[in-house]
Amino acid sequence: MPTPHNEAALGSIAKTVLMPGDPRRSQFIAETFLTDPKLVNNVRGVHGYTGTWKDVPVTVMASGMGIPSIGIYSWELYSEYNVENIIRVGSAGALQDDLSLLDVILAQGACTTSSYIENFGIRGTFAPIADFSLLSAAKKAAEDLGINVHIGNLLSSDNFYSAFDAASGQNQQWKQMGVLGIEMEAAGLYANAAYFGKRALCICTVSDHLYRPEMLSPEDRQLGFSQMINIALDTAAAMG
Ligand code: HPA
Repeated sequence: MPTPHNEAALGSIAKTVLMPGDPRRSQFIAETFLTDPKLVNNVRGVHGYTGTWKDVPVTVMASGMGIPSIGIYSWELYSEYNVENIIRVGSAGALQDDLSLLDVILAQGACTTSSYIENFGIRGTFAPIADFSLLSAAKKAAEDLGINVHIGNLLSSDNFYSAFDAASGQNQQWKQMGVLGIEMEAAGLYANAAYFGKRALCICTVSDHLYRPEMLSPEDRQLGFSQMINIALDTAAAMG
């Protein structure tokens, strides 16, 4: 069942897919965590692998950056490949003072500045939310692993760089509304999942802070990343 962006054979993609943004992360996750990973898609070098975790089939495939990119890949996985669960595993910039580098966020909801959801033609404001069964399974997985998580809203922005944020105080407004951090994909993924009656969750590790000059070292990045992947994979296993 190839699509313009996915050459995987129908049946070679598991019902649960982990989606990092970066294709090299996809390869790293597959080779480090999965048993018997097999490359099933490499159109545009996105690196999609299927293997098992705790005997449950899991696919890891990159989403690329931004809602347009995850919008394409997740749409095709849900509509063409019978995928039921997509768990994004990414990074976010923190907005709130009580968030620190390496903290893990489970995105209960995702606000957005993107026009993506307008294309569903709905009059009114659709609220992109995580699937509750995935969210509660991830919370339980984190508890079992002894990893503290923050649960709340993220902002899925269309801009990593902005000429206006500093002047307009836009980040401050999202912070005031209690939004935990900024990333660039969750709202599009949640909208696609809702449209197809499927499930989605976004888990993010804090990689930087919007109001403090903090950056992760490469070693810290790897450690924090592994915690998030363990939560995501145990969530996948819980979904069977
Ligand atoms: N903005 C958008 N996406 C991000 C950021 C950010 O500051 N940090 C990590 N992903």
